[in-house]
Amino acid sequence: MYAIPLGDDGAELRPLEPWHAEEFLAHLDRGREFINRYVPFGSRATDVPSARQLLQDYADRRAADTASLHGLWLAGKLVGGVLTLNCDARGGTCEVGCWLEPAGTGRGLVTRAMRVLIDWLVEQRGIHRVEWVAAADNLPSLNVARRLGMTRDGVRREAYLHHGVRQDLEVWSVLAPEWRAARAGAARHDR
Ligand SMILES: CC(C)(COP(=O)(O)OP(=O)(O)OC[C@H]1O[C@@H](n2cnc3c(N)ncnc32)[C@H](O)[C@@H]1OP(=O)(O)O)[C@@H](O)C(=O)NCCC(=O)NCCS
Repeated sequence: MYAIPLGDDGAELRPLEPWHAEEFLAHLDRGREFINRYVPFGSRATDVPSARQLLQDYADRRAADTASLHGLWLAGKLVGGVLTLNCDARGGTCEVGCWLEPAGTGRGLVTRAMRVLIDWLVEQRGIHRVEWVAAADNLPSLNVARRLGMTRDGVRREAYLHHGVRQDLEVWSVLAPEWRAARAGAARHDR
């Protein structure tokens, strides 16, 4: 299957599909506690059938063009991923999200993958507004949004109940013209 190289450390972005269920479960088991501090991603996947079902749910939503799932492989090992959700291609809006197991953090994997994903959303899918939603105390996540050049739109106060706590959710976004201008600026800087 196709793989998009993310740099010279061998990191790759690839589709994450139902046939990856065993590998996905092993990855979740390594990262479950870390990932679930702020988001319930993967918490339903506790054995191979439920892991396959989660991946199938995303495959179905991809077919319906409302969501998608993409894995991050480092040295051949699945260590995390990026995703789209709540996409409305006609309205030009889409939310993006991410997760890593601890071994994948601190390397810019998500930032690099997100650039590929947002490029695709803006340039290929015609998305106008890409949105990022994170718990207000999830600083690593907010730092990714900041690093991607997103703007903090505001806070949805106590909008999300997680582990018995009503969390404030920060909403960040980047608009297509802003994304293109930032990319053009970065390309000029690289020359
Ligand atoms: C949110 C999460 C993905 C962020 O992970 P992360 O490793 O900080 O993010 P990135 O992969 O973009 O890496 C950035 C880090 O790598 C460093 N880095 C190294 N090389 C880099 C590069 N080429 N480009 C960008 N950053 C690089 C950055 O300095 C940064 O480290 P720092 O925070 O210590 O300064 C991670 O904390 C996580 O999975 N949390 C649990 C799930 C979750 O909360 N998901 C988000 C829900 S909204």
